[in-house]
Amino acid sequence: MTNKALPYAFDDQSRKITFSRHDFPQPWINYLSNGSLHAFVSQAGGGMCWYRTPMNGRITRYRFYNQPIDSPGFYIYIRMTDGTVWSPTFRPCETALDQWEAAHSTGYSTFTAEKNGLRATLKLFMASDSDTLIWDLTLTNLQGEPVECDVFAYTELSQLAFTNEVNLGYYLKWNVNCQYNADMNAVLYLYTSWMQVDVKRAPVVYFSATEKADSFCCNRDAFCGNYRDERNPVQVENGRLSNTNLFGGEPCAALHHHVALDGNAEKQISFFLGVTPGALTDYEAALKQTLETLCALKVPGAVATQFQKNRTWWDEQLGVYQCEIPDESAMRQINTWNPMQSVVTARFSRSISSSASGIRGVGFRDSAQDMLAQAYRKPEWAKEMLYYLASQQLEDGHAVHTCWPEDGRPPQDITRSDDHIWMVYLAYAIIAENGDLSVLDGEIPFLDQDYKTPVHPASLWEHLLRGVQFTENNLGEHGLPLILFSDWNDHMGPFGRKGKGETIFVSQQHILALKQLAEIAELRGDQENVEYCQKLMEKQINALKQYSWDGDWYLRGWDDDAKPIGSHVNDYAQIWVNTQSWMVMAGCGEVEKDYRAMDSVKERMDTGMGLLINVPSLPADKANNLPAGYSENGGIFCQANCWAIIAEGLLGRGDRAWQYYKQLIPHEVIQRIGIDAYKGEAYAYSSTMLGPDNEQFGQACVSQVTGTAAWMDVAATQYLLGIRPTAKGLVIDPSIPSDWKGYTVTRKYRGCTLHIRVENPDGVQHGVKKMMMDQREIPGNLITSDMISAKESAEIQVILG
Ligand code: GLC
Repeated sequence: MTNKALPYAFDDQSRKITFSRHDFPQPWINYLSNGSLHAFVSQAGGGMCWYRTPMNGRITRYRFYNQPIDSPGFYIYIRMTDGTVWSPTFRPCETALDQWEAAHSTGYSTFTAEKNGLRATLKLFMASDSDTLIWDLTLTNLQGEPVECDVFAYTELSQLAFTNEVNLGYYLKWNVNCQYNADMNAVLYLYTSWMQVDVKRAPVVYFSATEKADSFCCNRDAFCGNYRDERNPVQVENGRLSNTNLFGGEPCAALHHHVALDGNAEKQISFFLGVTPGALTDYEAALKQTLETLCALKVPGAVATQFQKNRTWWDEQLGVYQCEIPDESAMRQINTWNPMQSVVTARFSRSISSSASGIRGVGFRDSAQDMLAQAYRKPEWAKEMLYYLASQQLEDGHAVHTCWPEDGRPPQDITRSDDHIWMVYLAYAIIAENGDLSVLDGEIPFLDQDYKTPVHPASLWEHLLRGVQFTENNLGEHGLPLILFSDWNDHMGPFGRKGKGETIFVSQQHILALKQLAEIAELRGDQENVEYCQKLMEKQINALKQYSWDGDWYLRGWDDDAKPIGSHVNDYAQIWVNTQSWMVMAGCGEVEKDYRAMDSVKERMDTGMGLLINVPSLPADKANNLPAGYSENGGIFCQANCWAIIAEGLLGRGDRAWQYYKQLIPHEVIQRIGIDAYKGEAYAYSSTMLGPDNEQFGQACVSQVTGTAAWMDVAATQYLLGIRPTAKGLVIDPSIPSDWKGYTVTRKYRGCTLHIRVENPDGVQHGVKKMMMDQREIPGNLITSDMISAKESAEIQVILG
């Protein structure tokens, strides 16, 4: 259990975090989703709901960059007969409560509040069988006396297309049609503007309840009243809604129920906020479907069934890998919160959170990396994304940078040197998990120069080789890859604007990709490509040998004027973390230099709560105008920390790898600097934290949607605990703190449940001395398909030493 002074506590058994205070420095959100309807909700009930895409399918509103923060959301108002109004989410009323607690868990959030002898519990989650956000409200009368109250459920509706709404909403709001349908007991909302991205998909939005409403309101401004807002809506104060429909204006869905409860009685009312597509193409059919959905949800027991299905999805997702280790806060991350966040990034790339406004679409390199955490849990899901990404690659082998698959918007293509390479790692990870080489045979078209037309379908294998050729066709004077618009570091670009700057990071990435491709080619019996990849690898390794060592660490690259980037000769940004860790990850450096380089990282870049991305920071005018200490200019870039953790793991320095892993766990950072300094969620990684050159050192920036999620998941499960899928089979290669006596992992792998027990009798950090499967010794530290194909489960004993 957590430190009492903190306003939150983890309950690991229930995979839950509970909050005892609502007023965090920023919203701490939870994502609710069934794969097509999505929402996030904060600890204070703020949040938004969107259908398929946050860019053009926004069902409810959320005000970004607003004061007060975190509104609006999914609000319940309870009005007592004496006129007191309160909310189980505390906000928006902010009426003092006798008891209050909120909690986030896997795919659902709960809010429990008590006021004057009445308890309200609100549970929010997504239905599995329809696109419906369920607000399940239970009222309990805790006193012997009967109680009456009025319950109002309210949400503010949106014009679906976010940027259109922001830019032109004042005209487009005349296309709003929001009415209460008495037969269905539902507010039905249509947004009829021709400016819809995909008219076929435009949904009917419904808001209904298990009980007949006593009054309703569809007009946000009438609901709130002049110069009021959702904190003190006049209609709630009046105790009754105005039964107002809305044909043009600012829409909302509000339903009212008068409730009378006998002494100690309990009552459940469930509200259903959802969508049915087809509003503008076949309205009658959409209405019929809506009616069917609502009837199904109103059947007694249906809400409980939907909740159970939601839980089952999460049990399966998390059940692929569970560990028991002698470190509570790391175990909680690995078993629950990190894989939860990996699902978030797999679904939403970098686009939507309480701070990311939802317009970024799918980042090519981002999603390719995000899916690495799904490749070992749901290879089919990862494959779907991989095929989509391959369809966004051009025939010359480079890939677009950002795409909007759901939004009918052309992709953005300013050629980066790295985007296409990430596909190789994803393909490799899928094959490593399921051993199925057929993923390479799928025929996928390239994207034509017009960024619209699919052309010349080719196998995925061919796509991957085209990427290799693209890198080979874009080498600079030192034989290293050109930076082009930038590499993984978005702010590397200025070093190469004249077209000559070269990147050592991409060189290392290229080598790792070639290595993996050679391994796969070998399995395919394709000797020609084995040799081809090896030849290119050697060439690149030679270039690195000549042009990458600075004396105590590896350079970051060479700029347009052939000056070194990331060298002791520079005034600023003398050392960059990525080229140190990737030299190890790609296995292309010299061992003593690798150790020395990673020691330099430790000496110069470790803040005690994360490694800096480069030091010292540059003055903003020399760093693409990034202020010192922020992001890629001397900030703690969390994703880059994952690679350093992996590198230390591969070097066998478990103590240091775990120090790096542990110190970046948000809950650990909060224990160190406090919640008001860190600000972000205690259970989700942020993209960056401010570095020591910024006054707000340690503050989390852009939480949730970050490549840290997948990479930390991979780092911890595959490199620290060391259960690592490879093309040859499952390698067991732990790197752990020397004071650990042992640990266990349950891992589902190729149809077999492996119960892995690692023992560390000699107190080492790394190195497998002996391995047994079902009591029989096996050679090496590899579990192959043949060894487990006939088994449903197996006991694996691993002795380190
Ligand atoms: C952000 C971007 C990612 C980029 C990284 C470093 O996380 O989404 O694409 O690689 O920043 O610049």
